[in-house]
Order: sequence, then structure tokens, then C-alpha cells
Amino acid sequence: MDRRDLREQNRLSWNAVVGAHDSHRGDLSRFFSEGGSTLFQEERDLLGELEGRSLVHLQCNAGSDSISLARLGARVTGVDLSDEAVSSARVLAQETGTCAAFERADVYDWLEEASREGRHFDVAFASYGVICWLPDLRRWAWGIASILIPGGRFVLIDFHPAADIFDRVWNHVNDYPCGGKPVLLEVGVDDYVAASGGGLTPAGFVEGVRDFENPEGCYLFRWGLGEVVTALAEAGLRIMALEEYPYANGERKFAGMRELPGRRMVPPEHIPTVPLMYSIRVEKG
Ligand SMILES: C[S@@+](CC[C@H](N)C(=O)[O-])C[C@H]1O[C@@H](n2cnc3c(N)ncnc32)[C@H](O)[C@@H]1O
Repeated sequence: MDRRDLREQNRLSWNAVVGAHDSHRGDLSRFFSEGGSTLFQEERDLLGELEGRSLVHLQCNAGSDSISLARLGARVTGVDLSDEAVSSARVLAQETGTCAAFERADVYDWLEEASREGRHFDVAFASYGVICWLPDLRRWAWGIASILIPGGRFVLIDFHPAADIFDRVWNHVNDYPCGGKPVLLEVGVDDYVAASGGGLTPAGFVEGVRDFENPEGCYLFRWGLGEVVTALAEAGLRIMALEEYPYANGERKFAGMRELPGRRMVPPEHIPTVPLMYSIRVEKG
């Protein structure tokens, strides 16, 4: 399913929200110059040694994680749909004197073009809120397989679809995601950076834009975990690890979330454990 029209609407919604998100992020230039990193320990461990490796960061948003990866020695190319996010990423790279390239493109178009041009990477990476923007998992997985070198790895870390069955106050109100069915979110991409209350702003939280309202709606595609794993396996990628976590890094999506060390957000004590995040590491044979 192509759904280019819906992806184009998502570009508008992301463009509208990037300024609000950026307004909360604190002084990232200074943070990086003092040796800071916006990465969480989980992706660092999954990605392993990056010195000298070519790495494509898919759906890189405003680039702070891409810059953190470049500062670990990777040769980074960041790719994102949003014009505003890519502009922010380029400014941040320049301000911090980091060598990282950013390309504005739809991930499907980019993967196909990169593959056609014979571009190959040691590592591909995508994180935290990426699968829900993809209308076609098979095409995405084949695209990733086509741009990895033999022995190359893809690391995905994302919020768990099991968490999507709950509303904000933990009522089980939604079906478990399945089939990539598009869902219109009339309120568009929201200011989840503000709502995370510092969980997503390791350089310090700034109040910035208040009460942001997005004039552009967006479309989400709801997939289950099994569908993600199957798409990667069908693309010929070997599943090396699949891990589920009872916490969400950075994001306070639900009421009463408690913060543990490492910016891990867990449910309030009266809520039984539920997987809030998962990671997959695959390798190309
Ligand atoms: C929640 S953000 C990912 C967070 C990111 N890992 C970070 O470091 O901040 C999701 C990103 O996916 C991008 N996106 C959504 N649909 C896309 C598409 N079809 N192609 C490329 N990027 C897309 C959005 O522009 C947005 O920047």
C-alpha cells in the first residue's frame, strides 16, 4: 500500500510541530560541546562499536541522535520526511561542528533511490516512534535489506504496540494494532516533547512554546509486533535479538508515569507490568 497522499499529509503535520519540539530542547550545542549524548543506553548497546562505520539513521527527526551517533565515530547520514526537522538537524550539525549529512526524503523513496544508486551502509538505525508512520512494512524491510552491506546490521527500537491498547488513563479502549490500518489523528503530531516533562530533553527542559495546537492532522498506521518481525525476516534479514521492555525511554505517554534512572518511564505502582518498548537487531547474511 503506497499511501503517498497520507504520507504527504504527515509531512505537513511534522513540519508544523518541529518548532514547538525544538523550543523545549535546551542548549544542545553546549550540551554536545560538553560531551553530552542524547542516546539511551539500550541503543548504544544494540548498535555496538561505531567507529568508522557508515550508518544511515532513518526517520532521524531534528538530528540530535544522529549527531550523537556521529560523535561516537560513525559516518552518519540522517534521513527524514520533514523539511523543518532536516533544517534543524543541519543547523545543529553546523553549530556543533559535527560531520553528519542530512537528506530530506520520504523513507520509501530514499531507500529505493539509494538501492538504485548502489549506496550501501554498515548499519541502519531507526528509533522511538517510527513504525507507526509506515504504511507498508514489507517494502520498508526489503528497502533496508537492499542498502545494507553483507554482514550489516539494522537496529530498531520503538514504542511497543501493546501500549496502544490503552488510553491516557490506562483504560483498555483500543484493539491491539494489526494490518497497518491507517488512523486519522485530527489533532496531528502533538507536543509530546513538552508532555514528557524533561524525559526527552537531556540538555535541559525549556518551557518554550505553550499550548501548541497542530493545524495539520496526520495518519498513523497500526502494526503489531509480529508483523514487524515477519517483514524483516521475509526480507532475508536474520533476527539476532528481540527484546521487550517494561518501560518507555523518555516518553510519558500515560498518566502517573514514574521516572527511574536512565530516563526510563514506568507505570504507576497500581498498574501491572506491560511492555512499553521493544528492540530488534537483525543482520544481513
Ligand atoms: C517520532 S520521530 C522519530 C524520533 C527520532 N528517532 C529522534 O531521534 O527524535 C518520527 C519521525 O519520522 C518522520 N517520518 C514520518 N513519516 C516518514 C516517512 N514516510 N519518511 C521519512 N520520515 C518520516 C517524521 O518526520 C519524524 O521526524
